[in-house]
Amino acid sequence: MDSGELGGDSGETNGTRRTGDSTEAMDSTETADSTGIGPKREWWKEAVVYQLYPRSFYDANGDGFGDLPGVEAKLDYLDALGVDVVWLNPVYDSPDADHGYDIRDYRSIMPEYGTMDDFDHVLAGLHDREIKLVMDLVVNHTSDEHEWFRKSRQSRDSDYRDFYIWREGRGDGPGGKGEPPNNWESAFGGPAWTYDERTARYYLHLFDEKQPDLNWDNPEVRERIYDMMDWWLEKGIDGFRMDVIDLISKAEGLPDGDADSGWTGSEHFTSGPRAHEFVAEMYEEVLAGRDVMTVGEMPGATVEEAQRYLGPDGDGLNMVFHFEHVSLDYGETGNRWSIGEWDLAEFKQVLTKWQNGLEGEGWNSVYLGNHDWPRIVSRFGDDGLYRIESAKLLATLLFTLRGTPYVYQGDEIGMTNFPFEREAQVRDVSARNFVERKKADGWERAEILEVVTMRSRDNARTPMQWSDDEYAGFTDGESWIPVNPNYEAVNVADARHKDDSIWHYYRELIDLRHARDVLVYGSYDLLLPDDPDVYAFLRTLGDERVLVVLNFRDGTPTFSLPAEVAFDGTELLVSNYPVDGAKPRSFELRPYEARVYELE
Ligand code: GLC
Ligand code: CA
Repeated sequence: MDSGELGGDSGETNGTRRTGDSTEAMDSTETADSTGIGPKREWWKEAVVYQLYPRSFYDANGDGFGDLPGVEAKLDYLDALGVDVVWLNPVYDSPDADHGYDIRDYRSIMPEYGTMDDFDHVLAGLHDREIKLVMDLVVNHTSDEHEWFRKSRQSRDSDYRDFYIWREGRGDGPGGKGEPPNNWESAFGGPAWTYDERTARYYLHLFDEKQPDLNWDNPEVRERIYDMMDWWLEKGIDGFRMDVIDLISKAEGLPDGDADSGWTGSEHFTSGPRAHEFVAEMYEEVLAGRDVMTVGEMPGATVEEAQRYLGPDGDGLNMVFHFEHVSLDYGETGNRWSIGEWDLAEFKQVLTKWQNGLEGEGWNSVYLGNHDWPRIVSRFGDDGLYRIESAKLLATLLFTLRGTPYVYQGDEIGMTNFPFEREAQVRDVSARNFVERKKADGWERAEILEVVTMRSRDNARTPMQWSDDEYAGFTDGESWIPVNPNYEAVNVADARHKDDSIWHYYRELIDLRHARDVLVYGSYDLLLPDDPDVYAFLRTLGDERVLVVLNFRDGTPTFSLPAEVAFDGTELLVSNYPVDGAKPRSFELRPYEARVYELE
């Protein structure tokens, strides 16, 4: 049974959304526009993006592994939700050391996902529904099984030697290998260098040892990458999400990094000396003149760096994914593996800095989680008593900030972190490395699993919960990663049956955002910056004004609109509790309450 087809509104589309509509709007408003948006209209600013993690979306052939025919089977589901763009995580041929972020062949599909024909069907099926497709572009590194690396490691004078970053060890070291060339660390723990016996040299890998870094200083590498991008665009895809694209240029001489930072060496490869040059070149060579969407994932980006990467006056990218707002709860290790405090005032301050910092200088991406982070309702909300309310609250934030919203698969039904009980349940390479390190440090098993439960990337990668059938309706076989045990209560079939579900709330917000330019293009003004419980802001476009009030706590704080914000009338646009006639001047909020008002 395809539970995605359940629910009273299955397959239905609505008239106000989709990029086709916005293009029409653009034609009519390009020159004169009372709101002043004018030529700054872009389809990718008006779009809602759905991030689809195919390995865990839907398994069509019962091998326990999500696949492209599985995506095809669920296209009507995406259509019913009302999204405009799908960002598909990697489906390229890969030995799968980092769940597809280690690519063996950029131009073929990993057999577990299906064939290139299956891919073409998905692309056509999305386009039939006026949904665009953005692919992951992983070009900081390849797999060590990629043909380029296999040739590169053969000999020091291989034609492909300089496609990667090879160095001699330091000193004599153990067995004559020497110590690694510098102290840089892999993002997944351990040294960023692996010794290769065949040529007695080390190669650099900022991630797993099966992900050697490409040498972007080599013009031939860049040319091959641009050719490959061109090939995919010619196939008809609509853009790229660029994996760790701010890490592609490494500091000359590869100097030692600060050993006390959260990622040793990162100051020498984050927006390194030629990063902007390379991104600008990629834009000129491949992207310029094409109506595509680009978003660069940038773990180390500041607002100032982002301004330089973005827009026609910068390097040409449309958006970046920065990490500032998702790193605020790091503890003493300065990375995800220690749990620190999370402070709402700081969270507001960081988001506000980005909202204002890219006003007129670029465009924000808005996301709270993805396949690399814990589930948003477990991290920023309450996945117990107030799961539904707080999932709706987070959705309200996602769709009312200025920028393009990215919905991560499963968040539209409020999926939660996974309650890890055994080490054998851990799949992700970075979490597995953490477990090994802590066991070696003598940590208790329970202590280790507690951190894993809060921080592992596996939390976001458990199967999509379609129904209360076995394996949550994800597969007829045995799923590659355990299903979250709460699937009987938390699943798509149930959510689509209930009018007041998280799913229907997402749909309502998506419709609202499509209908109201003020939510897309309006300016952003933070209210009550120091309030420790409430996140409130105004969006303004011409004479349209929207007030967003979000209670991030399980208490009942009182919200009072600052006196200088005047209005004659109000209309409640959306809320996650029933509201009877209350006016937004001052009111008490219920736990995790969210309200969006129009001020007239
Ligand atoms: C990005 C991806 C992540 C991957 C890493 C290395 O951060 O989102 O999943 O492990 O890059 O490619
Ligand atoms: Ca499968």
